[in-house]
Amino acid sequence: HRGLLGIAQLQTHEILFLLDEAEQWVALNRRPAKHSDQLAGLTIINAFFENSTRTLLSFEIAGKRLGADVVNMHAAQSSVKKGETLIDTAMTLNAMRADAIVIRHGSSGAVRLIADRVACPVLNAGDGQHEHPTQALLDALALRHALREAGRASSDGMVNGLVVTICGDIRHSRVARSNILCLQALGAVVRVCAPPALMPAEITQMGVEVFHHFDAALDGAEVVMMLRLQNERMDGQFIPSPREYRHLYGLTPERLARAAPGALVMHPGPMNRGVEIDSTVADLAGRSLITAQVEMGVAIRMACLEVLTRRARQVEGWA
Ligand code: CP
Repeated sequence: HRGLLGIAQLQTHEILFLLDEAEQWVALNRRPAKHSDQLAGLTIINAFFENSTRTLLSFEIAGKRLGADVVNMHAAQSSVKKGETLIDTAMTLNAMRADAIVIRHGSSGAVRLIADRVACPVLNAGDGQHEHPTQALLDALALRHALREAGRASSDGMVNGLVVTICGDIRHSRVARSNILCLQALGAVVRVCAPPALMPAEITQMGVEVFHHFDAALDGAEVVMMLRLQNERMDGQFIPSPREYRHLYGLTPERLARAAPGALVMHPGPMNRGVEIDSTVADLAGRSLITAQVEMGVAIRMACLEVLTRRARQVEGWA
């Protein structure tokens, strides 16, 4: 596909290529003048049908730092609220001749539906329980930086044999799905841990190690990635009390001590402090990558926008 709909479509060398491309934007973003004109004259539409802070802002900042004209469509203020269908919305976006469209939607597959009806590259900013590919890429970039600083990453960015435990609401998590695919492509051993009600049966087909007891899942883990409970997707089936959940699955300092020495802590956000993660762990200097994940999000989205629009212009003969 000409856009980025999921990690499932990417080969390992393409993941590494995007991570490498993002490095130049990490460097640019750390300079006082954070600007390039590589996408000058191009128009990017961010169409968000679901709430977002990090993804929406970082795609907007990414487009603007590359010199593009960026416009945001919030579903709550759009004609979707008047009953317009997704296909009519896609045709409307297409008629505006954007050069890239970034879409977040609450339904798995909705981004593909739009991507199949527009002429420009589409980037999936999270669709239902399916995929959140730029999240997995930014997580890989943050991890690569931290491992390099610790002298633990290979020069090519592979993380062969690295044990990563992903704990939380695996059933509803597009972040978990994209991260499992991305981390495995880079050579990691991925464990998933969740209460039985929040562990989808099909997860066993993804080649992960499945745990229901957090302490066992932490034993020897070099990276611990925490996910929040997605109460908005539960339909009232399983909502343990925050206190009960923290007791069984919360990452406390005592629990983190069960992981490998120096284990790194990740969380895609938004966090529910005191539920799936304690503040003392979330803010643990030198171990928590949560702020670095947000920083890498801008660089990864700059890389994805630049690579995909460049490829589209080459195909169309404009570049
Ligand atoms: N991690 C993530 O996707 O956060 P937002 O929902 O704030 O975009």
